Amino acid sequence: ITNKTVAIIGAGASGLTAIKCCLDEGLQPTCYERSEDIGGLWRFCENDIEGQASIYKSLTINTSKEMMCYSDFSIPEDYPNYMHNSKVMEYFRMYAKHFDLLRYIHFKSRVCSVRRHPDFHINGQWEVVAEIYGKQEAAIFDAVLVCTGHHVDAYFPLNSFPGVKKFKGELMHSREYKHSEKFQDQRVLVIGLGNSGADISVDLSHVTKQIFLSTRTGTWVVNRVCDDGYPLDVVHFTRFKNFLRHLLPAALVNLWGEKKLNSRFNHENYGIKPQHRFLTRYPIAADDLPNAIIAGRVIIKPNIKEFTERGVIFEDGSSEENIDVVIFATGYSYSFPFIEEGVIKTNGNHIPLYKFVFPPHLKRPTLAIIGLLQPLGAIMPISELQARWATRVFKGLIKLPSEDMMMADIAKKFQYNNKRYVPSQHISLQVQYVDHMDELASLSGVKPNLLNLWLTDPRLAWEVFFGPCSPMQFRLSGPGKWEGARNAILTQEKELSGLQKHEPCNHALAAVSLSIFMKVFGCFALFAVILAYL
Ligand SMILES: Cc1cc2nc3c(=O)[nH]c(=O)nc-3n(C[C@H](O)[C@H](O)[C@H](O)COP(=O)(O)OP(=O)(O)OC[C@H]3O[C@@H](n4cnc5c(N)ncnc54)[C@H](O)[C@@H]3O)c2cc1C
Ligand SMILES: *[C@@H]1O[C@H](CO)[C@@H](O)[C@H](O)[C@H]1NC(C)=O
Repeated sequence: ITNKTVAIIGAGASGLTAIKCCLDEGLQPTCYERSEDIGGLWRFCENDIEGQASIYKSLTINTSKEMMCYSDFSIPEDYPNYMHNSKVMEYFRMYAKHFDLLRYIHFKSRVCSVRRHPDFHINGQWEVVAEIYGKQEAAIFDAVLVCTGHHVDAYFPLNSFPGVKKFKGELMHSREYKHSEKFQDQRVLVIGLGNSGADISVDLSHVTKQIFLSTRTGTWVVNRVCDDGYPLDVVHFTRFKNFLRHLLPAALVNLWGEKKLNSRFNHENYGIKPQHRFLTRYPIAADDLPNAIIAGRVIIKPNIKEFTERGVIFEDGSSEENIDVVIFATGYSYSFPFIEEGVIKTNGNHIPLYKFVFPPHLKRPTLAIIGLLQPLGAIMPISELQARWATRVFKGLIKLPSEDMMMADIAKKFQYNNKRYVPSQHISLQVQYVDHMDELASLSGVKPNLLNLWLTDPRLAWEVFFGPCSPMQFRLSGPGKWEGARNAILTQEKELSGLQKHEPCNHALAAVSLSIFMKVFGCFALFAVILAYL
């Protein structure tokens, strides 16, 4: 039993699971949340509140419920695969209630400073000052988990657009966008073809006179609904496919991916064909974008050359006048202004953190950042694994390597990303979902042992290898093992197929037998490769 105290800053998706992980490890959590409720980004508010993440009314998550849940708390069977933000919120409330997390949260408590204790080099403690209902209160903690999110500060690069000062219409950032109603019959220009830009354009396009969507680079577009109607991440985020991805040359995977995406709609004909190859930048999930483009509701435009008083001129020489509103879907930047200087070092746009969690140069590993990365999958289970690891480091059960080794690991990851991806704002935060989950799990000793599973529980091994790499896989063994994990993994296929209620039986059968054929084939391929290596 330890009596160590931990301050958790933020009660969003990351903060909630951080509280739970502290409780599991017998640490004493105190969570400070600046707003009056849990949920962070996922709690929709009618107004855009400064200092808090902000979403629009229609936002639907782009990761399936199988892949985004916490590892020991499934999302109810009758919830849709891709949940509306209000349902995501309901799930967080259930999680908080089930594990009795609310009692550890101080609401309306904004942390304004986190400083090292004068004896930090001996005790690793922190002094945390929070503004609680307008009054400042200080407290000492043995460790700190920073869970404040990175979709709060709008990146609003006005100055990089010549003539923008002349423009007489309205300029706004995507975080201010809430509903489409007030844009009725307007001509709106959206800048940036990311997830938000595409989503907001489609949402608006049902009521506006015209949407123009300007993109510098184009993008590959994926659909939430994938092969046979299964969710995208369920189909593609499997250990089997991850294994193939490592095995096959990138050129081949690029060809395959681009061909597949172009077969749904030819990206070139739709004006969004990117210069970059499939694997070198995350695609966006924008199911309805091609529908809106083919219906003419959304018109794709290239980069903006300059603004005029009432409109814009694009780089291809075309121009549009009478633009009422311009929405900058240009993303976010982040910082940790409340943390004492020198604790978090920034290197340009890059914050060097060991495994995206620990500042490597601290004398004592008692401060961790949770949720600061950009996976192509769900962030919730990653935050959970990070917190499981960090709490065990706080307790001294796991030792971090030397500063030099940590720096070398950080540099290696940074170089890998720079080589692999085309430049983008948050390139250093990008991780490969399955690989990164496994890496974090290995650190805490909770990565499933596949070889062992094949020998002792082949049915489970089959599902773990070919099925979706769901968070439950990291509760099968090791510290924090959950008895319900095996069953949750074995029943996911049944639950998933229950969704396609209208599928005629013979089609379903054909699909199943084909997929079994693929898997058996995959097994042979796998063994052949293993033999070849031996
Ligand atoms: C439009 C949009 C769509 C997205 N869609 C997806 C998706 O489909 N799937 C996915 O996995 N991710 C998505 N994300 C990413 C999203 O950030 C994560 O899903 C998740 O919300 C991150 O949770 P968090 O707890 O780390 O941060 P947040 O949800 O931002 O929570 C941070 C919490 O910390 C509190 N806080 C901040 N500063 C302080 C302080 N100084 N003191 C006290 N409290 C503080 C805030 O009030 C907030 O409650 C999306 C992001 C955006 C912007
Ligand atoms: C889901 O949306 C978030 C935020 O816009 C993005 O970072 C992430 O890459 C998206 N994931 C997929 C699978 O498109």
